[in-house]
Amino acid sequence: MKTILEKIDKNQNNTDIIREAGRILKEGGLVAFPTETVYGLGADALNEDAAKKIYAAKGRPSDNPLIIHITNMKALEKIVSEVPEKAVKVAEKYWPGPLTMIFNKSDIVPYGTTGGLDTVAVRMPVDAIAREVIDAGGGYIAAPSANTSGRPSPTTAQHVAEDLTGRVDMIVDGGAVEIGVESTILDMTVEPPMILRPGAITKEMFEEVIGEVTIDRTLIRPDSRQVPKAPGMKYRHYAPKADLTIIEGPLEKVTAEINKRAKEKSRAGYKVGIIGTEETVAEYKAGDVKCIGTRADESTIAANLFGILREFDDDQVDYIYSESFDTAGIGSAIMNRLLKAAGHHIEKLV
Ligand code: TXA
Ligand code: MG
Repeated sequence: MKTILEKIDKNQNNTDIIREAGRILKEGGLVAFPTETVYGLGADALNEDAAKKIYAAKGRPSDNPLIIHITNMKALEKIVSEVPEKAVKVAEKYWPGPLTMIFNKSDIVPYGTTGGLDTVAVRMPVDAIAREVIDAGGGYIAAPSANTSGRPSPTTAQHVAEDLTGRVDMIVDGGAVEIGVESTILDMTVEPPMILRPGAITKEMFEEVIGEVTIDRTLIRPDSRQVPKAPGMKYRHYAPKADLTIIEGPLEKVTAEINKRAKEKSRAGYKVGIIGTEETVAEYKAGDVKCIGTRADESTIAANLFGILREFDDDQVDYIYSESFDTAGIGSAIMNRLLKAAGHHIEKLV
């Protein structure tokens, strides 16, 4: 398959590119496009054959359901059997935005899209290009992150091209995404509603609007024997090729410990990567040191996380040591993704 790569210039009229993307989607093809969270790999969600192509292109297990992307509340009513009152309140506040909600599905949603489930995940993104592509493609676009299954989610069109060239019909390049971690998933089919994946919209932000919200226990206790409620959360994700260890503790102790380990491994002939912050990068004396952002604004860390994991793959490092981050705000999403990338290998210094 030949993959068309089209760059969108936000200051220009891109009608032709959007129209072409829409035509491909309506004909059952695959189009990757930017959203504010990560790039998505889109297909017509109501066309089972099209949705199935997504699984093949990503190498994704077929029991892992897709999110349907829409641009308005009318579209929501068509694909779900009922919109709970709390969901209306949450939608009023946080849609369009980096939020996915789970509902009971209506009959028009094929099981090929929901991985055989009677529930459906729905997201209304705010990114302008995403919205144009969704509308042009018929209004119901299934889109997982546009990476090969198991690799870090793509935050640039180059990441998408690395993984999916020859496997999708078109990649719409809208530049780097804004947020950098996937949407929060909130299950509205249970009471109280439950967070199945942390993202930019936090528990506290939901509770402001609808009162109590719980968090899937398996996200808090990774050693739990229970299976996560979002099927995708059970797979080893975002895994860099190197062995990644997170070091947590008082910052001076963390930098000293990372320096010690980086020196040991370098001396033994290994290539070492270090994930530091603006506040600490000058302290590191060995290895391939990358600055992930500033602790003063963790959204900068979210924006760089997946890109840095991919860079370390390109650099072919053997070991990566990362600092740990605060779990307030978007920090809970950062630590969730980082812990997954590390296979939950975290060491705490006191
Ligand atoms: O930010 C995002 O959500 C991005 C962009 C492209 O919109 N999409 C994304 O999709 O992250 P994906 O497929 O990589 O992750 C979707 C997650 C998976 O963990 C999946 O198991 C879960 O959502 N999910 C989908 N439908 C579900 C359902 N009915 N019940 C529970 N979990 C569901
Ligand atoms: Mg994904």
